[in-house]
Amino acid sequence: MTVLVTGASGYIGSHIVANLLSKGKTVRATVRDSSDPERVDHLAAMEVEHEGSLEIVQMDLLDPVSVKKAIFGCKEVIHTAAVVVLNSKRAKEKIVDPSVLGTKNVLEAIDASGSVNCLIHTSSTAAIRPQKYVDGQVLTTDTWAKDANIEENPYGYAKYSAEMLVRDWHKSKDDSFRMVTINPCVVLGPPLSKRHLRGSPSFVMMLLNREIPFVIPMHMSIVDVRDVAEAHVRAMTEGEQAGRYLVVSGQMWWKEVASTIRTAHPDLPVPTRQIPYLLSLVVSIFHPKVSLSWALTHLGKRLFWDATPAENDLGMKWLSPEQSLLDTIPTILENNWHDGKARSKK
Ligand SMILES: NC(=O)c1ccc[n+]([C@@H]2O[C@H](COP(=O)([O-])OP(=O)(O)OC[C@H]3O[C@@H](n4cnc5c(N)ncnc54)[C@H](OP(=O)(O)O)[C@@H]3O)[C@@H](O)[C@H]2O)c1
Repeated sequence: MTVLVTGASGYIGSHIVANLLSKGKTVRATVRDSSDPERVDHLAAMEVEHEGSLEIVQMDLLDPVSVKKAIFGCKEVIHTAAVVVLNSKRAKEKIVDPSVLGTKNVLEAIDASGSVNCLIHTSSTAAIRPQKYVDGQVLTTDTWAKDANIEENPYGYAKYSAEMLVRDWHKSKDDSFRMVTINPCVVLGPPLSKRHLRGSPSFVMMLLNREIPFVIPMHMSIVDVRDVAEAHVRAMTEGEQAGRYLVVSGQMWWKEVASTIRTAHPDLPVPTRQIPYLLSLVVSIFHPKVSLSWALTHLGKRLFWDATPAENDLGMKWLSPEQSLLDTIPTILENNWHDGKARSKK
């Protein structure tokens, strides 16, 4: 009855492991380097309820033998592992291959195992969002990021392609094999390791570290990492066969994100001044993490997502975006994981 969680050292994977252990499950958690304290210490320290247990194994998605070994003997697989980087000069190798070849290896290992009868795959709103949308549009799971490509949107292409692979593969299975995808937006909430700050909480870190002295007109959809974990675990037994569940709690402009932090932590020099749209386009040309095409697509526009199927079918109730945001910060401050510049002005 073992549940395998791939990417267990990661932000979402760690919370899924914690959730499963709190429910007394037998968990096998995959990490790429089991000698790295930042990848495993927080997992080893997790509370285990009832008859639950945790086994940490080393696995690389691009090494099919290690994937087969990890999956062997498991009943359920929660596949979260992927590279969560939006762009890279070597996008195919760095972003697309781990998602697409990695997922292919997971599917082949499931077939070879003969024991797995459930796959919950972590997809993304990036697998749904088309390159172009209009301000105020509401997207549902009927939409696919079909126009994503390696050059302009490698992460969206990787997430779309991996989810398609899972769905095509599942069509050949009989109904006793359960498959669901969970499609989160930007995930916030408590990090459990310093490594977790490199992914979606980096939006918060940019403000805490005052990496830029202003904010740009960016509209963000937010969901709490604890809710994302709960949705994955519920999907193992609840919701539709082959369901595709958006998990989104609400939206905030980045300016609101900044002022919410500032109000709760007035001693932190978080920038709250928003620059005008045209100036933010100019900034995007020079900023290493964003491009002009990204800015033209996203800045100044609101995008909404229909997460009611997850509420109705999985019984999800969301923590508010403000709570998720504020709950991201205490662990960072307690462990001094932020940059010196962001320390108290006092
Ligand atoms: N965070 C978000 O806002 C968000 C939103 C939507 C969807 N998602 C999806 O959620 C999943 C988890 O994301 P996350 O935020 O938890 O990211 P994360 O913290 O970066 O975790 C990613 C995990 O994948 C593992 N991984 C990467 N390449 C691997 C490889 N070649 N072999 C084995 N493991 C590998 C990482 O291992 P290491 O620790 O060794 O690097 C890590 O455990 C991803 O599929 C992502 O696309 C995330």
